[in-house]
Amino acid sequence: MKPVQDPEAANQRLSRRSFLKGAGGAAAGSVLATEMAQAASEAHTAEPEVLKGVVQVSFHLNGQPTSVQVEPRTTLLSALRNHHNPPHTAAKSVCEQGNCGACTVLIDDQPVVSCLTLAVRVEGRHVRTAAGLAQGDQLSPVQEAMCADDALMCGFCTPGFAMSVTACLEKNPAASEEEVRRACSGNLCRCGTYPHIFSAALKAGRAMLQAQKGGK
Ligand code: FES
Ligand code: FES
Repeated sequence: MKPVQDPEAANQRLSRRSFLKGAGGAAAGSVLATEMAQAASEAHTAEPEVLKGVVQVSFHLNGQPTSVQVEPRTTLLSALRNHHNPPHTAAKSVCEQGNCGACTVLIDDQPVVSCLTLAVRVEGRHVRTAAGLAQGDQLSPVQEAMCADDALMCGFCTPGFAMSVTACLEKNPAASEEEVRRACSGNLCRCGTYPHIFSAALKAGRAMLQAQKGGK
């Protein structure tokens, strides 16, 4: 890959060296003008080549092998919503700055904000979204509890909370409210459903523990 010209550095080199040389005469002044014009033209034509072209990213989405073709700069959120066929909209696009957590997905069971994660980083990995929590018609314990405890209003934050809570409880179904709150510290709910979300999370944890005991 060709190194990208740094226009500011080029201009600085010119302003120091060429200006001192050329301060005394018109001929040198003309050299300075030519060099500056050349540098300006180089800066103008310097293109960030890394942004060109498309790469194929293959990964598992909710257990199914899939792939997307994206520019290397594409975020995972955009890859899922805008490049995946069919569009996968379970992760919500709200702030796109890593502030709200609405786009939270799990990569190899770790919660991440997909708006700040490059799609190329999930090559060969397992991505899970809220759309993959239910098994057929059977909601996951977290989904069941969120519905039962009325843990959503407009619903924009809900898939992100569901994924953060799921990641927390899969590690430790006996997580305390404090631990659940910490796990959801990157998720914002503008409708203020926090108490319902946390009570639902504790209820889901109890259900998961119960299921584990029943499975023994
Ligand atoms: S949309 Fe990703 S954190 Fe808000
Ligand atoms: S339910 Fe509306 S933002 Fe949380």
